[in-house]
Amino acid sequence: MCGIVGYVGNLKAAPIILDGLKRLEYRGYDSAGVAIMADGEFNVAKQIGRVAGLQKTVAQKPIEGTRGIGHTRWATHGGVTRENSHPHLSNNGRIAIIHNGVIENYATIKKLLESKDFTFVSETDTEVLCNLISYHFDKEPETDEAGSRLLASVRRSLMHVQGTYGICVLSLDAPDELIAARQGSPLILGVGPEELVIASDVAALVSRTQNVVYLKDGELVRIKGTTFQISTMDEAGVSPVIDQVTWTVEDADMGDYEHYMLKEIFEQPAALENAMRGRFSADNSTAKFGGLNLTANELRGMGRFMFCACGTALHAGMVTEHLIERFARVPVECDHASEFRYRNTPLFTNTLFFVISQSGETIDTLAAMREAQRKGFKVLAINNVVGSSVAREADGGIYQHVGPEIGVASTKAFTSQLLIGAMLALYIGRMRDMSVRDGTEYVTALKGVPDLVRETLKTADHIKGIAERYSRFNDMLFLGRLELFPIALEGALKLKEISYIHAEAYPAAEIKHGPIALIDPECPSVFLVPQNELFNKVISSMQEIKARGGPIIAITTSDAELPEGLADEVIVIPACHEAILPIIATIPMQLFSYYVAVTRGCDVDKPRNLAKSVTVE
Ligand code: AGP
Repeated sequence: MCGIVGYVGNLKAAPIILDGLKRLEYRGYDSAGVAIMADGEFNVAKQIGRVAGLQKTVAQKPIEGTRGIGHTRWATHGGVTRENSHPHLSNNGRIAIIHNGVIENYATIKKLLESKDFTFVSETDTEVLCNLISYHFDKEPETDEAGSRLLASVRRSLMHVQGTYGICVLSLDAPDELIAARQGSPLILGVGPEELVIASDVAALVSRTQNVVYLKDGELVRIKGTTFQISTMDEAGVSPVIDQVTWTVEDADMGDYEHYMLKEIFEQPAALENAMRGRFSADNSTAKFGGLNLTANELRGMGRFMFCACGTALHAGMVTEHLIERFARVPVECDHASEFRYRNTPLFTNTLFFVISQSGETIDTLAAMREAQRKGFKVLAINNVVGSSVAREADGGIYQHVGPEIGVASTKAFTSQLLIGAMLALYIGRMRDMSVRDGTEYVTALKGVPDLVRETLKTADHIKGIAERYSRFNDMLFLGRLELFPIALEGALKLKEISYIHAEAYPAAEIKHGPIALIDPECPSVFLVPQNELFNKVISSMQEIKARGGPIIAITTSDAELPEGLADEVIVIPACHEAILPIIATIPMQLFSYYVAVTRGCDVDKPRNLAKSVTVE
């Protein structure tokens, strides 16, 4: 979850590292720190709070030096204190480390080191690893070159470690060098003409270079001056593959918007256009995907689909489940990746497995994928970040192509996952019983999505007014049916994560089985009530709420006629094809949660306790 950046080059390291950390802040923002090597010592600046605070401190007291490491923290071991902030130094002050991940057996290692008179100033697992490296470094033959000793001691230490890590290590004894290693936490090397930058995410690199090497689990990189060598834990050399990042710095900037989340909400028409581009057949009757790595026959032969994901991405999976079952008539299962990985669930032999992940680094999703692959299943990934761990380990997949999503609350990534899910249902449906006519109608609907989203975004001011009136409540219910039940879940999740309002979602008819007990004038309900075969049933549920004094916000389609006075607030979205309704219905949910959070004065892009990609279990 934490963001890490390392720099070795000819320029002042501190501003470059701090700029990188600023771009990585969505990974964690409890505290930030840098350690820069200069004149035979480490200059360390670290403090609780945001990177901007650290930038101010460093601006007042500039740090010289052209090699350094920096970290923005999402606390795991130990509270949010300066002592627990990274970088950490070894007892002798000669080794500095930053770490993203969790060392599960740190307590055992700590005991061992304490028995050898090591002491600790923090409660972190990272400081333990730092001293372990220092311990091994001192045991390496002094006759060896310091850089080789450092690499060997990092390797030896990591052999004792259980857990996940992306680390960067500096040593005063090898002032030209930086060692980095990864296991379960992402690490990317940016290769500039006269500098090397290492980071947990491309966002921190794109302002320096577009040329990157994605390190794999179990790999270490030794940076020496402007050269680097990659090797494995078994000391085998690895030939680096240099990839080109397609994102630019502008893609990751906020532009004129007040928050990334708002920018990303309004970017959706263009983002969805990108997600669809080149993905329809010439006769416009079906979808096509380049990277599935499956023949049409293999796909046709699949008797079942399984989707695993976390959070918002899981909601996209749940909508896709509904659409594939509805339009392709193939059974689909959907599971929390975090549960699937331990459930040892029996799976049908001809099941095609999908994971969905914006970041491609969510540890539970990765673990679910590996578990399915271990059982011999092919796993395809729906993923936004090119070169992410999920993308690299999947057997094939579909990129979302919506550019960097920085806001912690997922918006454009979610709607593009819904769009890809709808296209998948079409693709599989057309291989089975869906007619050319129905397929053509479906494609026309998909192609109309960007315009419908544009139209729906025009309700922003109306929704802002509603949000301002409703921001004082502390509990809300979100209710929808069929393909809109997962959208109700998403609406509740969005509200919870950025405004800290307690929100729950149910299929509308479920309220009478318990949740209706919550209803009173202080608990509003947001109903998704499109004109469809269950319209009258949802109206009945609304009446049950109304009868108990619960305020109602209705999100309804332009072809529906709500009974006069039933809803206290009405948001009208365009009537549209069932396959794209979840996308259109999501827009008011996003705007509502955004404006509620802003009205309550919450930090929309960096909600408390959260991080954008959850790389620890
Ligand atoms: C969404 O608003 C959340 N921040 C969160 O639920 C997120 O979708 C989840 O952590 C999965 O992330 P991923 O798509 O990067 O795997």
